[in-house]
Amino acid sequence: MSLHTLLQGRQVVAIVDNQFGDSGKGKFSDLLAKEWADITARGTGGDNAGHTVDIKGKKRIFHILPVGIAYDNQGKNTLLGQGMVIAPQPLCTELDMLKAEGLSYNNLLVSSQAHMILPFHVEMDSGDKSAKNGGIGTTGKGIGPAYGDRTLRIGVRMKDGLDIDVFARKVTALRNKRYPNSSFSVDDVVQSLEPYLNRIRPFVVDTEKYIKNFLAEGKRVCIEGAQGLMLSIDYGTYPYVTSSDCSIHGTAAGVGLSSSEVDLTIGIIKFPYMTRVGGGPFPTEMGGTRSEKHCNGEDTVEAATARDELTMFSIPFTEEGKKVHYDTHHPRIMELMNSDNEFERGVGIRLAGDEYGATTQRCRRVGWTDGVIQQYARRINGKHVLAITKSDVLEGVKNFKICQSYENADDKACGFNKDEEFLRQVQPNYSASYGPIEGVAHSRDESAHSPGFKKAINDFEKLTNTPIAIISTGSEQQDVIFR
Ligand code: IMP
Ligand code: MG
Repeated sequence: MSLHTLLQGRQVVAIVDNQFGDSGKGKFSDLLAKEWADITARGTGGDNAGHTVDIKGKKRIFHILPVGIAYDNQGKNTLLGQGMVIAPQPLCTELDMLKAEGLSYNNLLVSSQAHMILPFHVEMDSGDKSAKNGGIGTTGKGIGPAYGDRTLRIGVRMKDGLDIDVFARKVTALRNKRYPNSSFSVDDVVQSLEPYLNRIRPFVVDTEKYIKNFLAEGKRVCIEGAQGLMLSIDYGTYPYVTSSDCSIHGTAAGVGLSSSEVDLTIGIIKFPYMTRVGGGPFPTEMGGTRSEKHCNGEDTVEAATARDELTMFSIPFTEEGKKVHYDTHHPRIMELMNSDNEFERGVGIRLAGDEYGATTQRCRRVGWTDGVIQQYARRINGKHVLAITKSDVLEGVKNFKICQSYENADDKACGFNKDEEFLRQVQPNYSASYGPIEGVAHSRDESAHSPGFKKAINDFEKLTNTPIAIISTGSEQQDVIFR
């Protein structure tokens, strides 16, 4: 199959993550923006997200704009929907990055109804950055407080930034009511944001109207979800979630559509391992609570970094600012990935897959792909197809396993129960071991894949009643197989 056969006859396609985020939505969003879509839209979250974009051979991290912005010069639109919370300065930083590369953003549309992240929000959120002591471990970008003010009906919207007097009035009301002790005065906020608001002003429109018109004109829309279903405020592992609904429902609503208007949903999952950043239950985590404490830190112990892990296992690296560089194919990393010790396997996979947060550089916790979570995703996100990613990271690994059910799950129809009490104590039942993983990295054809890997994929489709339509076999755009 090809991308075009998969998308034949569709007008609205959504890309969502069925796990805890970071599954590689950006790659598919890029592919669709380049090959298929007229409009790439985002409807939830803010600069808590992060994806690495390849601009003219250089890797750049974007937090707010979808990758589709790179095709602006082809007349394609990029839309930031009303469900988002947008920080003006970081948005301008991304516009500057585009400008520096000679790229345009003339067709950017920013919802007038999207809420604005203000310095008050960031100040309030940064106190909760750490996942130590069982905290949520937010990205510290002000996401929760901004959505909180939206829910309290006192938030400041992008449209309020169109007129500086209106903006000052709204900021005053918000500060008085919610942040009287903030270290930022109203003047601080208004004066520091004014230049950014001036820059964004030409792009602020009623995006709902635009999207309805685009659809009427027969244009094709790709909606890019943010974070993942397990981090959804409505369907995720509350309270260890973000503050928006990352399911197909919130993703569509965030751009002014209903999930029933989405013609095809592509659920992205990592397979056969998955990751979680920050606090919260993670039944299939390799190394269990040891891994959780290692990645998030404890009372007296700081959270581990890539540098700490490389040092711990004597793997050579070089440093460039906060970023470390090392050989992801180092023999010691392969040894760790094949270790009998689950904690070590987790470290090995994290190093091989470069599983450190794009936004925060934090260690992502590593666990086996959870079929129960995918069964739940099938129920919430409805009928969809899957794209699996990161299997190539495990190239050369002798064996692996998949979580098939939970021991003593209380709900027979769907073994998943999002309550922390349940997920903290549940015992995953694993498949017999599969393996090895060979012939996957950079493959363009499934016939190269080892039988152990093929069997795992076929079994997973049956287990979850969801077809795997796409296999990503590497980080490059051409490393992809349509089935
Ligand atoms: P917040 O979205 O910054 O409020 O963070 C809430 C929780 O969601 C924390 O556990 C974060 O680590 C997690 N989170 C937020 N954005 C992402 C993301 O893009 N990828 C993975 N985890 C995320
Ligand atoms: Mg991401």
